[in-house]
Amino acid sequence: MHILSIVGARPNFMKVAPLIRRLKARGHVASLVHTGQHYDANMSDAFFRDLGMPDPDRHLGVGSGSHAQQTAKVMAAFEPIVQELAPDVVVVVGDVNSTLACTLVCSKLRIPVAHVEAGLRSRDRDMPEEINRLVTDCIADLLLTPSPDADENLRAEGVEDSRIVRVGNIMIDSLVDQLPRAEDSDVLERLGLNAGKYGVVTLHRPSNVDNPEVLGGILDALRDVAREVPLVFPCHPRTRARLEALPGGSDGLQLTEPLGYIDFMALVARSRIVLTDSGGLQEETTWHRIPCVTIRENTERPITITEGSNVLAGTDPARIRDLSMQALQKPCGEHPTPSLWDGKTADRIIDALVGWHEQR
Ligand code: UD1
Repeated sequence: MHILSIVGARPNFMKVAPLIRRLKARGHVASLVHTGQHYDANMSDAFFRDLGMPDPDRHLGVGSGSHAQQTAKVMAAFEPIVQELAPDVVVVVGDVNSTLACTLVCSKLRIPVAHVEAGLRSRDRDMPEEINRLVTDCIADLLLTPSPDADENLRAEGVEDSRIVRVGNIMIDSLVDQLPRAEDSDVLERLGLNAGKYGVVTLHRPSNVDNPEVLGGILDALRDVAREVPLVFPCHPRTRARLEALPGGSDGLQLTEPLGYIDFMALVARSRIVLTDSGGLQEETTWHRIPCVTIRENTERPITITEGSNVLAGTDPARIRDLSMQALQKPCGEHPTPSLWDGKTADRIIDALVGWHEQR
């Protein structure tokens, strides 16, 4: 089979890398399109290098813009390329604008699309990602889900069982593949940190960083937590621009540039606590059994709460502070790893794609 995978933004790379590796190992044709939604060396190139990904067959170079501009640019650039490459199936992952844009193009050209990480729902339409998830799942042909809650969400929306296959969590494939390399990372020495004695912060959601009052409150809470345990904060470009405009900025926190996959994984794996608004990090901390305080009112990944180490703090500074202090006082979790978070999801995806293709 010829399977074309799409990547656009940072959280896509670790989901596509293991799929491409297994596709090639099993003798399929694996092509890759990068939309260029993320383009900085440390938001994109570092991940290709760390994850051992091949250069994309095509790079659309769309860059930043409003949601409509970015989505439209991906669509216009992708349409002739997918026609030229003529894959048997296109695989999209996650919930970024590139995911939605490429799915829309394929759907109208009647090129089969499979969505990896289908069915996740935050039920918060203020999140651009929730709109991307809803529309992508509505029009993609095959919905490959990570967890039982995702299957239930899709069924509740009227999706027929024949379109749903639970395959597990593909991001954990990358984590399992690359963990041995992370053990050799010298990131702790470079940042002057001691294993188990620091916390990691990431923030980039528009709802958290674009409003100075909300961001200011979150930073106050983080500064309080940093009096208990040093906090290192690899900073997304969107967030850095906002921080620089805020009085007090990142005082009390150790800001760094965004890190590559291996260094970031090493940093998280040896941390005592993570405070974040990222989706993927809620899952990675659950796998590592490291306490995660999620700075959001909701999550599309509830399994990280019911079966993992995650708590939802919202953006109230007192709650962020309290939940962090509670987490720091408890030993790290001992919960079992959620089902199908076993590093073998890429193979289950390929089995599902082949089976589905043969039946069509
Ligand atoms: C996007 C995804 C989000 C994902 C996040 C991970 C959507 C709607 N959002 O958000 O789901 O969690 O990626 O990072 O698709 N910028 C740079 N260099 C880059 C990329 C971005 O400087 O390489 C800056 C630009 O100022 C840009 C801003 O970051 O305008 C936001 O980038 P954008 O791709 O629009 O969204 P993210 O916030 O990164």
